[in-house]
Amino acid sequence: MLILNSPREAQVWCDQQRGKGLNVGFVPTMGALHEGHLSLVRRASRENDVCCASIFVNPLQFNNPSDLASYPDSFDQDVSDFDNAQCDMVFNGTLAQFFNGCTDMADIKLLDPGPAGAGLEGAFRPGHLEGVVTIVDRLFRTTGSCNAYFGEKDFQQTLVVKHLARTLEKVGYDIDVIVCPTIRDQAGLALSSRNQRLSARQKTRASTLHTALLAARENWQPGETS
Ligand code: PAF
Repeated sequence: MLILNSPREAQVWCDQQRGKGLNVGFVPTMGALHEGHLSLVRRASRENDVCCASIFVNPLQFNNPSDLASYPDSFDQDVSDFDNAQCDMVFNGTLAQFFNGCTDMADIKLLDPGPAGAGLEGAFRPGHLEGVVTIVDRLFRTTGSCNAYFGEKDFQQTLVVKHLARTLEKVGYDIDVIVCPTIRDQAGLALSSRNQRLSARQKTRASTLHTALLAARENWQPGETS
């Protein structure tokens, strides 16, 4: 697996693949990989001629600085996991590389996530989806036309990314956003890089969200509305 430390080199690689008539699958990540990410990579690898992935902890999408400071980092393990999941190329980059030499986040103009950015998580994490859509725009302009794989766990993110892909279509990028099922642990908790920061007790408590939603659905289907 090729490791490229600049978005520009990754762009050249992706262009070369398309030049050879190969289609490109892409999985964007912030690293700290788990089985959810790897299921996306395996699917991207199966469904495309070549598969690439990115690792970039995007500071623009952290509305809480302590969340950014404690975000897990396991680059070497991630690279090895991508390789084992049949990824052909992984790239990373710095903020300055993604944003034309810009090193101060305050100077970066955030993109509008569109109508799907209103409400839900957007209401509780101000600036989060703006930050997501701003970096994903840069990532898509790096990979160019591709099939891009996202987990359904971040449901609202998948909607704003689909909106972005429609916007990019107008400037010549053909990006198909493919939404893949949430991967859960045995207790039903959706896998997430941030789960590494939970204690065993917190994980058990968190899994009750899934249990409660399943119970609500089970009761709602035969007619319960209360
Ligand atoms: O879902 C994520 O890991 C991130 O939001 C993404 C899409 C890689 C953008 O930073």
